Amino acid sequence: MKKVLLTGDRPSGQLHLGHYVGSLKNRLALQESGEYDCFVFLADVQALTDNFDNPQKVRDNILEVALDYLAVGLDPTKTTLFIQSLIRALPELTVYYLNLVTVARLERNPTVKAEIAQKEFGPSIPAGFLCYPISQAADITFCKADVVPVGIDQMPMIEQCREIVRSFNQIYGEVLKLPEAMLPPAGAAQRLPGITGNDSKMSKSLNNGIYLADDEKTLRAKIRQMYTDPAHLRVEDPGHIEGNTVFTYLDVFAADKAEVQRLKEHYQSGGLGDVKVKDYLFEILNAELRPIRERRIELAKEPGYVMQVLKDGSAKANEVAEATLAEVRKAMRIDYF
Ligand code: TRP
Repeated sequence: MKKVLLTGDRPSGQLHLGHYVGSLKNRLALQESGEYDCFVFLADVQALTDNFDNPQKVRDNILEVALDYLAVGLDPTKTTLFIQSLIRALPELTVYYLNLVTVARLERNPTVKAEIAQKEFGPSIPAGFLCYPISQAADITFCKADVVPVGIDQMPMIEQCREIVRSFNQIYGEVLKLPEAMLPPAGAAQRLPGITGNDSKMSKSLNNGIYLADDEKTLRAKIRQMYTDPAHLRVEDPGHIEGNTVFTYLDVFAADKAEVQRLKEHYQSGGLGDVKVKDYLFEILNAELRPIRERRIELAKEPGYVMQVLKDGSAKANEVAEATLAEVRKAMRIDYF
């Protein structure tokens, strides 16, 4: 039997290059390996935990992220693509798991802690937000996922899920699968800075991202705006490559490492202008993004098809979820009839 793989994204914005190098590329490789039964989903319920007052944003991004998925090559014949809120067993599993976790443990979750600080909730943390790691454990366990490809920031979520699984199995019997996190392969970009540099990752709110949906003109303009070396004022001046976003991107995307090395040396000794390096980066990124962009444009003409993919995938995920739920209810002695 194949191993089960599950991962997902919050539909709170289009996917950007950070998602592409940090997770989508790896997902594609895993899909193509044929070694896994793959589930990839749109975590709309989780997106609503911090966007509950903006449901239209989440709604709109269901189609946007689904377009990103299909455009990069997630293939509905190989990967089950579904919408979290359509899987009714998930909130039910979440309710049962709530008993297995203390509030103190939730408050200690480093990812949740960081988000609470960042969102400035103060003492007014919505219960739904605090509990989203429990809902995430339901996401992971409904299909008995063996592996969960995620970024390093999601490690605490997987750890918390594992605690829930151990606790459930110990109390009610061995029903749930203990999942493993799968980090991006060594050498893959762990984290891509935004175009404004300063070491923060790409995000919608910081307005520093390059999106898979960006057209060629936008891509060129964003690369032209990229943060380089503020001390590199004249072409003849020696420039710095440390913290220089354009070189960081070249390290990630350029196949010709020798050419990048040559450019770095030239830049450091002076005589190489930012625009030249930026145009080189543009050519490389554009070559990689063009086919994705073109597929996305074609797919966007058929929103009905894209939504049908999600509907069919959700029906399939539901069958799997109902089977697990029946086992869970039996183990919990609430299988009355
Ligand atoms: N928390 C993840 C994120 O913010 C999204 C997510 C929700 C997820 N449920 C999941 C990822 C289950 C992996 C497995 O990106």
